[in-house]
Amino acid sequence: MFSMDSRNFKRFFRLVRRAALLATALALLPVAVAWAAPPSPLDPASPGARSIANLHWTVLWIAAVVFVIVSGLLIYSLIRFRRKSVEDPEPDQSFHGSAMLETIWTVIPVGILLVILVLTFQTLKDTNPNRSTDMTVRVIGKQWLWEVQYPDRNIRLTNELRVPVNTDIKVELTSADVIHSFWVPQLGGKKDAVPGYLTTTWFKVDRPGTFRGQCAEYCGLGHSKMPIEVIAMDQESFDLWTTATAEKQANASSQGELVFSTNCASCHAINGEGGQIGPELTNVYAEKGEDYVRESILNPNAVIAIQCPAGPCPSGVMPQNFGEQLSEDELNSVVSYLQAVAGVEE
Ligand code: CUA
Repeated sequence: MFSMDSRNFKRFFRLVRRAALLATALALLPVAVAWAAPPSPLDPASPGARSIANLHWTVLWIAAVVFVIVSGLLIYSLIRFRRKSVEDPEPDQSFHGSAMLETIWTVIPVGILLVILVLTFQTLKDTNPNRSTDMTVRVIGKQWLWEVQYPDRNIRLTNELRVPVNTDIKVELTSADVIHSFWVPQLGGKKDAVPGYLTTTWFKVDRPGTFRGQCAEYCGLGHSKMPIEVIAMDQESFDLWTTATAEKQANASSQGELVFSTNCASCHAINGEGGQIGPELTNVYAEKGEDYVRESILNPNAVIAIQCPAGPCPSGVMPQNFGEQLSEDELNSVVSYLQAVAGVEE
């Protein structure tokens, strides 16, 4: 054993204090990051996500209290019972094996764990997808995009899921190839999309807005480029949108128009109508030619970006190997469609 004079002790105490500060800062870092950076699970917008966030805060506070008490006792003991000089006798050891103490520090942690167990079961119940819902959407993970289908409305979208607010939405998930994971942090926990299985999750968005999500299961090269955007609209706007979109997709005068409207229109506009994420494509065929259009679909990141509505196009936003999602036929038809809207003769 080593003994400590008061100078050594001061040095030791400084070290302990620094270590404690560093440990606290490191422990709080992920919390701060998760809190500050959207989309944060700590900024929930659905009952299941709210339940998860509440559980997180409860457990964090319990752990913080335990941490303060335990490290307080430890630091107190270090100071109070330190050896002040070589002649100091060993402090009182008579409580060693005390039945009373042993019982207290067994019962208290068991009690804490039981409380956490009950709260966790409550959260599991809140996030359980097996409940009656008002609306069902089907989401299919593919390398590397999310295909969204509204079975009773005849609408198909890519990487975009529009829902009305304050409505219980059931999401039926599956995969066309490998395991993906559907995760919109503000709306609930992760749920795997497994080939050959139908898994479900649910949410009820409580405010209009856009909630970003991301595939949360490593699924190959394009895993990081597999975003999903949940757009919550008030019921009236949602109804208008579904009617217009279903009509547009049903009345597509050509296969190409349908392929465009289900796969491309959430990001790209034609004649000012459609998404504003990617560049408008009305004249792309006339300006750049067929080879460029084909190459842009088959290998989006190989093509030098043109101007996007919000500035220079960021690379990697369009799913890689996007064209592989399309059959040869669909690819040809969408190229012909872009040729037609650009007014280029066959
Ligand atoms: Cu799909 Cu990762």
